[in-house]
Amino acid sequence: MNFDNLKKTDPLCYDLVLKEMERQENTLELIPSECIASLSTIEALGTPLTNKYSEGYAWKRYYGGNEYIDEIEKLAISRAKELFKVPYVNVQPYSGSPANFAVYCATCEPWDTIAGQSLLDGGHLTHGWSASMTGKFFNSVQYHVKGDGYIDIENVRKVILENKPKLVWIGASAYPREFPFKEIAEIAHQVGAYVAADIAHISWLVVSWVHPSPNPYVHIITTTTHKTLRWPRGGMIMVTDLWLQKDPDLWKKIDKAVFPWLQWWPHNHQTLAIAVALWEALSPSFVEQNFQIVRNAKFLAEKLQEKGFRLISWGTDNHLILLDVGPWRGIFLQEALDKAWITLNKNTIPEEPVSAFFPSGIRLGTPIMTMRGMKEHEMKKVADFIYRVSEEIKEFSYLDTKEERLEQMKKFKEYIEKNDSLLKIKKEVAELCSNFPIYR
Ligand SMILES: Cc1ncc(COP(=O)(O)O)c(C=O)c1O
Repeated sequence: MNFDNLKKTDPLCYDLVLKEMERQENTLELIPSECIASLSTIEALGTPLTNKYSEGYAWKRYYGGNEYIDEIEKLAISRAKELFKVPYVNVQPYSGSPANFAVYCATCEPWDTIAGQSLLDGGHLTHGWSASMTGKFFNSVQYHVKGDGYIDIENVRKVILENKPKLVWIGASAYPREFPFKEIAEIAHQVGAYVAADIAHISWLVVSWVHPSPNPYVHIITTTTHKTLRWPRGGMIMVTDLWLQKDPDLWKKIDKAVFPWLQWWPHNHQTLAIAVALWEALSPSFVEQNFQIVRNAKFLAEKLQEKGFRLISWGTDNHLILLDVGPWRGIFLQEALDKAWITLNKNTIPEEPVSAFFPSGIRLGTPIMTMRGMKEHEMKKVADFIYRVSEEIKEFSYLDTKEERLEQMKKFKEYIEKNDSLLKIKKEVAELCSNFPIYR
């Protein structure tokens, strides 16, 4: 990659870009929502399409000079329709959260009742969690997973039938199992709700037929474009064939909610990059890579289990794994792994005993490692790295009082800063990564 102009104009920013690229190259990136955008999509993002204002939709713009932008947006839409097998797509949402908010605007009035999977049980903030405006502007009711990590269908039934929400979300950010789209949607249909599947984490699995599609059961599908779809950042809203039965004006309401209610000018360089990524995703190699992501996740899950880790739901059906590492240990492990250049995130577990900030779990996934070319052989090494880091910090655990915990956190930070074994693992991690360059 060449950044000669940036280097000349702004050496400080240029230097930071190089440092971040180096960090990405040397790090084992296990955050399951991250991916590697292809070089063609990165080139598309850097085009002068960013210069153009185009408020409105293709061939219905408020500004002139949009003939090529129109073609590009139409191309992105037609490719998305083909890939996701849906009759309607809006590709303008800036990201996943605005896409989801547009769905609320299209289907609900303020303070209507809505339902989603609780954040503490792996759900997403935008599905009505109290820290998000979706939990403040709407009367949000949340459903849960069982102690074994699987969605509790009886609880879903109770929550939906008792509260009669206008909109029901199916989807999550930390759920390692197949989503029961059919079961939840059937319950939601009994109360006449709009049903939206947020497939941000698994859209790539759905288009590769590795995960059953929500299309036959839900009215609306939203997704981010930058997770495992390995596309540039963005969001999409799709309407399925069920929309006609529920609301013939649904797609018009979605369009209106995105523009002019929530956003004005689309980010045209991003739309172009999405169109390019969609083209790449229509190729067979995309599907093959997706199968390997799941194979790697299952294998890694098995190896971690052999090392004695407790896996939520005892395994995974997709790209992510949730480990119960004990109260507060989520944060200790995340920070210690960071020192060894292994990046993942702390996460709550079902029936979390502590809190979202000091949770008992960690979440990890295989997309980036697989996109770099790593397979089962490397997953074994990754399980071993995680185990060794965890052993290094095994004396740090949850303490009873706040004062004790604060004191321990201070000691922990000093300890991991000086720990030679973590440094040794970091070197091994960098060596492994150097055999699998990101942009070959
Ligand atoms: C299931 C789900 N929906 C929506 C979002 C929001 O996407 P974005 O970060 O693009 O706003 C995320 C990502 O955090 C997610 O995991």
